Amino acid sequence: MVIEKPFGRDLESAKALNAALLKELHETQIYRIDHYLGKETVQNILSFRFANTIFEPVFNHRYVNHIQITASETVGMESERGGYYDEYGALRDMLTNHMMKLLCLVTMEPPGNLSADAIRNEKVKVLNATSIDVQKSIADAVYRGQYSSGHEEDGTRIKAYRDENRIDRNSQTDTFVAMRLKIDNWRWAGVPIFLRTGKRMAKKSTEIVVQFKVPPLQLFRQVECEGDVCDITRIQPNTLIFRIQPDEGIFLQISAKRPRWQFGVEDAMMDFSYSGRWEQSLPEAYERLLMDTLHGDSTLFTRSDEVEAEWRVVDPVLKNLSQLKPYPYPPGAWGMPEAEWLFNGIGASWRNE
Ligand code: BG6
Repeated sequence: MVIEKPFGRDLESAKALNAALLKELHETQIYRIDHYLGKETVQNILSFRFANTIFEPVFNHRYVNHIQITASETVGMESERGGYYDEYGALRDMLTNHMMKLLCLVTMEPPGNLSADAIRNEKVKVLNATSIDVQKSIADAVYRGQYSSGHEEDGTRIKAYRDENRIDRNSQTDTFVAMRLKIDNWRWAGVPIFLRTGKRMAKKSTEIVVQFKVPPLQLFRQVECEGDVCDITRIQPNTLIFRIQPDEGIFLQISAKRPRWQFGVEDAMMDFSYSGRWEQSLPEAYERLLMDTLHGDSTLFTRSDEVEAEWRVVDPVLKNLSQLKPYPYPPGAWGMPEAEWLFNGIGASWRNE
């Protein structure tokens, strides 16, 4: 049996759904589809991490400053989706499934082998160590937004979410959500993890950004002068970007000497892009996943304990929605500006590119 997400709408309903399914079927007969796992670039996260020697040793709290994952969309409510979406919102529609999958793949421990259960065990383990990074109150760690009305570049009017077809005029559903998480395990203790997703944002883009710490000694600090213009050399931290879509690839931002007399350092990109390396187009996620069900391979499907572990992470948000009223944001923005506050004290910000 192939089942499409969302699997429940909170921890309790997910447990009830799992119990009902497992009464009739064995776990190995159930294929819970999350199409993000069928994306070629998402599968490549594991190859990148565990088929290379040089990255894994620095994937931990000693070297990583933070991780941020963005899944932004430019569309609003498509055709008749409003009825479904208004019941779920960005948190349930995207974050508690697609984004959690990305989070697991980039933070899980290496599996002992590539069997479906060995991989899924590691995902569940890391999810069980993950929670909302609440400092004083949950409102410091979670921001919900809802798009207001605006205009396309060509002047066409964009409806506010509440004016879309089949949406409650007083809806409190989030069309944008951002949060700060922590993973309390040996590898990631102290490394903040930021997730955000939303509709009607500036760009359609899904990417994972691993930002490393700056080098321990800042050698290149002197003031750089070019003619009569002087500025301080700013070393940018190394940043590894997994571009899930579009322009699928992996990019590493490094610092390099600027070709001039002075010792100026500037950032530069090392890049690997799928289209540059391979000519064939990437398969559709569902093609791959449906083929896997025919082969009886459940590696890229969500197990029942994984579903419950995902809901457990966001459960405190769902239980405190009254404290987390959605802020309005204009269409075409990177969500609500307040989501920037999640980075307070971290010395970083969202990568809006
Ligand atoms: C679906 C959500 O699962 O994923 C949609 O229900 C969302 O709301 C879509 O638009 C995004 O998928 P993709 O592959 O375009 O990032």
